[in-house]
Amino acid sequence: MQLLQLMQNRQHTAPKRLAEPGPSQQELQMILQAAVTAPDHGRIRPWRLVEIANNQRERLGQAFAQALLSRDPQASPEDLQDAHDKALRAPTLWFAVVNTAPVEPDIAQADRWVALGCAIQNTQLMAQALGFGCGITSGQAVNAQPMRELFELGAHEVGVCFLSFGTITITKPRRARPTPPEVFSTL
Ligand SMILES: Cc1cc2nc3c(=O)[nH]c(=O)nc-3n(C[C@H](O)[C@H](O)[C@H](O)COP(=O)(O)O)c2cc1C
Repeated sequence: MQLLQLMQNRQHTAPKRLAEPGPSQQELQMILQAAVTAPDHGRIRPWRLVEIANNQRERLGQAFAQALLSRDPQASPEDLQDAHDKALRAPTLWFAVVNTAPVEPDIAQADRWVALGCAIQNTQLMAQALGFGCGITSGQAVNAQPMRELFELGAHEVGVCFLSFGTITITKPRRARPTPPEVFSTL
């Protein structure tokens, strides 16, 4: 019941609503330990997480702005600033990357993405258990060339999403979840 309650209480919090204090180094280690317990077909470790240190946020901001500019050369200075500022939110910011390399042809592509999804969910639940808010954000920038260069992604790696952690400043009403019959049937 406790685990179910923890899961039910987790909700996506936008990075702009996550403030200091963020998780301590020890708490971040616990979140990572939770991530690495995720199921992993073939034990191929098909994902990795990258922390964006505070002194690297500006570089990430520039990558966000460059990514916007490359898909919309007419982007206004305000839009570019908004894109840049995405890098400055939340005390802890991680980038999730999946490896699609055909090292183990028997392990389907879908399995790699599922493994990453499981790891991500573990991070969210561990952060929730530690009393922090968390959120997942993606968008067109995550795999744009400036982002690929910043994170030095290999040819078979794909940038998937950012994970933000911190203290919730404003709690939004919880979104409705599907009821079990909506997602479950019996053959
Ligand atoms: C892979 C992935 C990417 C997501 N990207 C975004 C995003 O870019 N912006 C956003 O507001 N929410 C994003 N979310 C969070 C979902 O919007 C959120 O989980 C959903 O609305 C359900 O809300 P809940 O997590 O509070 O139950 C993402 C979730 C996942 C799994």
